Amino acid sequence: MRICPLLPLVVWVLSYGSCTFSACAQKIPAIIDTDIGTFIDDSFALALALQMPEFDIRLIVTASHDTVGRARVAAKHLTLVGADHIPLGIGVATDNQTGPLFSWAADFDLSGYAGGVHKDGVKAMQEAIYACNGTPVALIEIGPHTNVRALLDRFPHVQQKVRVTVMGGSVVPGIRLPWGPVTPVNTTNEKEDPLSAQALVHAQWAEPPRFAPVETTIQVAIKGALWQELQQSKNFAVQVLLECYMHWWNESRTGSWITTGEANSLDPTRESAILWDAEAVHLAATTQWLTLTELNVDFDNWGHTVVSPDNSSSGRRAWFALNWTDQGLGPNLDGGRDSFLQHMISLLLASQSWSPAEFGSAPTPSEEVVHV
Ligand SMILES: *[C@@H]1O[C@H](CO)[C@@H](O)[C@H](O)[C@H]1NC(C)=O
Ligand SMILES: *[C@@H]1O[C@H](CO)[C@@H](O)[C@H](O)[C@H]1NC(C)=O
Ligand SMILES: *[C@@H]1O[C@H](CO)[C@@H](O)[C@H](O)[C@H]1NC(C)=O
Ligand SMILES: *[C@@H]1O[C@H](CO)[C@@H](O)[C@H](O)[C@H]1NC(C)=O
Ligand SMILES: *[C@@H]1O[C@H](CO)[C@@H](O)[C@H](O)[C@H]1NC(C)=O
Repeated sequence: MRICPLLPLVVWVLSYGSCTFSACAQKIPAIIDTDIGTFIDDSFALALALQMPEFDIRLIVTASHDTVGRARVAAKHLTLVGADHIPLGIGVATDNQTGPLFSWAADFDLSGYAGGVHKDGVKAMQEAIYACNGTPVALIEIGPHTNVRALLDRFPHVQQKVRVTVMGGSVVPGIRLPWGPVTPVNTTNEKEDPLSAQALVHAQWAEPPRFAPVETTIQVAIKGALWQELQQSKNFAVQVLLECYMHWWNESRTGSWITTGEANSLDPTRESAILWDAEAVHLAATTQWLTLTELNVDFDNWGHTVVSPDNSSSGRRAWFALNWTDQGLGPNLDGGRDSFLQHMISLLLASQSWSPAEFGSAPTPSEEVVHV
């Protein structure tokens, strides 16, 4: 696995600030395809991805509904935390529906975003993939897969240059979601655009896609002492994230949003929402703390995960992170899930504003960049 310093975890964290040029050249080039602005886990996932030493984030592209509004949310977040060298791409809009975080970013002038905004986000994906010159790009799918289908239609030759990690899928029965339904369920990123989910599993990527499914992502919530550590942090990037969370919570509760039920079940002084997407970001870099199961899968026209027998020609091979490992980092941690949460918090608490010269090698905006 190509990860920045090929060293144990603790050393990664310590060496983050002194990552040398040659080590940085070995980072995983990544594209994040996100529906940030509706559920809050995308904001946490973005914050985590920015702090993971493994990644060189080349592009963030917005997915589904009002993709310009989502880009504004991403742009404000990136600008506040000093990561505004990362280019943004406007993904395929599906309608003009907004999300509870849109009002947080309403005061942000997207046309002034320093990293540049590509009006054709799908073309920007293709360019970012080609700019990596054969190094497989990690495409992190934490929104509906509409942009992926457009990418496959328009630029089919990118497939072998990309490996995909998805938040989605649900195969094990009997898990109750906090707002009521019992698994297996049709997952949001797939049911919002099932044709695109099907296109994603049928594509010939550099390797079979990895899924962070409901089975393990439902356990990714920060509570107790870890949550208090975040709440009390003076770290500016953490404060930006918590400001997003409070805004999302207030807005979700007062409006009538898809997120209202979830917000009503949460006490933000005590816990995070379920951070489904954060696991997918982690899984795009490493399988540490997760056990992957190979399945032959497809999605039906309602976004349910369909598992076929191994010897069946329907479905495609994919890796599902169905279990957290039992083994944790240390004696005080229960297992892989707790270790991951601890690791995520450590990274977030160590967040620092960073300059592109030091940490990124994002492509300079081309003439494609437009002002929206
Ligand atoms: C969203 O689209 C609908 C249907 O096209 C339209 O009636 C409505 O005015 C639009 N709303 C906004 C805020 O643009
Ligand atoms: C959320 O609402 C509470 C109570 O109305 C208020 O005190 C708080 O400032 C609001 N927070 C945000 C971020 O809007
Ligand atoms: C999700 O699945 C349920 C049945 O399990 C179905 O009633 C619903 O219409 C599906 N949602 C979408 C958006 O297809
Ligand atoms: C697949 O395997 C099952 C048993 O595992 C068997 O019953 C079935 O006939 C096989 N199908 C094919 C197409 O080989
Ligand atoms: C993995 O998780 C599933 C339920 O999601 C459980 O049935 C199975 O026993 C677990 N496997 C291991 C090895 O823990």
